[in-house]
Amino acid sequence: MLALGADGPLPPKNLRCEYLSNPLGIDVRQPRLAWVLEHTARGQKQTAYQILVATRPETLTQDKGDQWDSGRVASDNSTQVPYNGKPLQSSTTYYWKVHTWDKDGNASPYSRAAQFEMGLLSAEEWKAQWIAGGNLLRKEFPVAAKVVRARAYVTALGYYELRLNGQKVGSNVLDPAWTTYEKRSLYTTYDVTAYLQSGPNAVGMMLGNGWANQTWDWGDPVKPAGQSPELLVQLEIDMEGGRHVQIVSDKSWKAGKGPIASDSIYNGETYDARLEMPGWDAPGFNDSSWKAAEVLKGPGGVLSAEMMPPIRVVDTIPPVLVSNPQPGVYVYDLGQNFAGWAQLRVKGPRGTAVKMHFAELLYDSGMLNRENIRGAKATDTYTLRGDGELEVFEPHFTYHGFRYVELTGFPGTPGLDTLRGRVVHSAVESVGNFAASKPLLNQIQRLIRWGYLSNLHSVPTDCPQRDERMGWMGDAQATAETAMLNFDMAAFFTNFIRDIRDVQGPDGSVTDTVPHKGGSRPADPAWGTAYPLLCWYMYEQYGDVRILDEHYDGLKKYVEFLRSKAPDNVLRYSYYGDWVAVEHTPGELVSDAYYYKDVQILAKAAAILGKSADAQAYSQLAAQIKDAFHREFYDAKRGVYANGTQTAHTLALFFGLVPDDQLGQVLGRLTNDIVYGHDTHITTGFIGVKYLLPLLTRTGSSDLAYELATQTTYPSWGYMIANGATTLWELWQNKTGPSMNSHNHHMFGSVGAWFYQALAGINLGADSAGYGKIRIEPQIARDLTWASGTVETVRGTVSSAWSHSPGVLSLDVTIPVNSQARIVIPKEEEATELVVREGEQIVWEKGKYVPGVPGVTGASQERNGNIVLEVGSGRYSFKLTMR
Ligand code: BGC
Repeated sequence: MLALGADGPLPPKNLRCEYLSNPLGIDVRQPRLAWVLEHTARGQKQTAYQILVATRPETLTQDKGDQWDSGRVASDNSTQVPYNGKPLQSSTTYYWKVHTWDKDGNASPYSRAAQFEMGLLSAEEWKAQWIAGGNLLRKEFPVAAKVVRARAYVTALGYYELRLNGQKVGSNVLDPAWTTYEKRSLYTTYDVTAYLQSGPNAVGMMLGNGWANQTWDWGDPVKPAGQSPELLVQLEIDMEGGRHVQIVSDKSWKAGKGPIASDSIYNGETYDARLEMPGWDAPGFNDSSWKAAEVLKGPGGVLSAEMMPPIRVVDTIPPVLVSNPQPGVYVYDLGQNFAGWAQLRVKGPRGTAVKMHFAELLYDSGMLNRENIRGAKATDTYTLRGDGELEVFEPHFTYHGFRYVELTGFPGTPGLDTLRGRVVHSAVESVGNFAASKPLLNQIQRLIRWGYLSNLHSVPTDCPQRDERMGWMGDAQATAETAMLNFDMAAFFTNFIRDIRDVQGPDGSVTDTVPHKGGSRPADPAWGTAYPLLCWYMYEQYGDVRILDEHYDGLKKYVEFLRSKAPDNVLRYSYYGDWVAVEHTPGELVSDAYYYKDVQILAKAAAILGKSADAQAYSQLAAQIKDAFHREFYDAKRGVYANGTQTAHTLALFFGLVPDDQLGQVLGRLTNDIVYGHDTHITTGFIGVKYLLPLLTRTGSSDLAYELATQTTYPSWGYMIANGATTLWELWQNKTGPSMNSHNHHMFGSVGAWFYQALAGINLGADSAGYGKIRIEPQIARDLTWASGTVETVRGTVSSAWSHSPGVLSLDVTIPVNSQARIVIPKEEEATELVVREGEQIVWEKGKYVPGVPGVTGASQERNGNIVLEVGSGRYSFKLTMR
């Protein structure tokens, strides 16, 4: 804390543009700007801001914005401020900064400068042509003067690696993101200034099949097998003296065949280093034997900027063990199941072929068990150059889901350092942290995070290992909140939601997988609901109103599609329902519950967007669906919904489909089924489990939720861990045969949201979005002595950490500037005499609020005796003592 009188707002930090930090090549014409506030005092908020946007950093240094000076705008908006200056131009970099005023009218210093750069904003600016012809394409070109600024705009139908003058450009791998190519391809913008030189230059592109040429059983690839991938490249080069040169992909490029003999996402890569052509990506290479590139039509969709974290190699992990179960067969254990590949280090005779097979499981014999990866061959083969040097190989255009690697054909005896794991996924930032005094909870949290990241490959996939890896929408919706509390998913989901709209049919239907490769159209309603649900979570977690607006028509069309299938207000069609359940729940009930939810979301979105007629109409429809649900599924004689499973009752209760006078009775049925019917075990699939623990917590049974979360016998998360899981399984059962049993599926990870929301107690305030209002309400589970959660929200850090000993509860809370919180401090059941202190100061005593603690604006007591504090921003250390 500064000395008295020095209190004030600090410079805004963490400047973002369209959720990205200093993005290069965006194509939103009114990008939204955001910042995080800091203040030396508690209870502070923003009352106004001023944004400056300039085309040169020097202009900004003089506190001028030649592009936009917002002036002082009275507003508390710090997370979604749309750019509102002069029209933004293609390929131009903009520098910006912001300062704010606090509630007392004190101005903050300016933030540090941030920047954003526009991509190519109109289709006409693309002069490049789609070309193909081999898996290597190249072109040489002269640059007449010193390069002052150069950009490359790149995409492919397939995967690419961009190379300039002998070097790989940037650190993206498996780029571009997978899209419905017929509708849209995503291009990436690279700053290539440092890769170019005056004089001769060369651009080279390596191409892989990616998802465009994937051969699979899941529907037709965009390109028939055997056709080569295509690319589109445009280089814009500014030279000293104001000259500009453009290099584009066209028929003047040369096409050749490189060392990659075959590549496939499912099957792996075969690389023959004897076929490398040193210098092919540098000037002066003799390409006279290469043929001219073919100019093609391209996939036909629009070109959009790739505005989300790219796929990268994010970590390297050493093996923990190597064994030698058979002569010549070496099996590496990386100690962790994950997505990526292995880096091989080898020295040996020319022509030696070393093979790496990947698997999640081992047999007792120590050999790989690859039964559950089904048709995926998951094999990388490297043939040595054999020039006496150490050769280091990593594949370019494939990835595997694995913990174990089998190495064969190795010249000599490999060591532990022969292989290392390379962890590869969309490089989302970690924003959350959860931990508690019970190690099992921390282990589950670890499994959730590894499982989730393994399945982030530009779309949220179901699994990373077998011949599938698709954007299954049910899985995506199941864990979206967990994901958002652990990782910065804002840009990723903004993109995926657009991917969903790209598959929407004229009838409003969406598909089970996005891009649509497996499963059906229309989607199972519990899968299709990903469209409204993800939009809604974007609104809740990030305060994103624009996404509701942009997708409003799409959401309305989707709901109207569902309505067309439910003439009597009951939506019955279903394929998977409560998928992978222990006890089956009729799919009709699951579909209909989501129909109700989807209509409610649409009604709420309409209200937020000021479409009051729609808001009313869809609220009415929701009420009709609720009546119809009860009529259709409630069996008054037996007092159960449908067949009375945990999922049937959980969905009915959680979604608010049960008439008030029957709530107690239905809840009783549910808890009886859990406790007496199943000895405190879950019987749901991945749909039911998402809501089961939150429901129990919400209805006063958080101890029961906790018991379910910490079970160690089948079915439970603890059971997976007891059986050696390092990522979540697809099934509650421990199966390892040829059936559907991935050991790295993320959808049971929905419990992760409950860790943050219930155990740490971090929640959105009622009817609020983007953490403007926060509710901290930790559940003090009986056998925990402490739990803590931190989430870097769009407003800044929210954290809650409690520790408990008999008679004393300590609760440390952080609330970001510009937010308010209601903090519920739970007391022990029997305790009567309660005293709450903040630091040394008393806030509550003798049944009364004691005013005077900075930042605390009020306190009251709930009927159950818990103390509720109203606070503004700041860090607080509360201590409740009770007798
Ligand atoms: C996937 C699931 C998916 C399901 C649909 C499976 O093959 O792996 O996670 O949601 O199909 O039923």
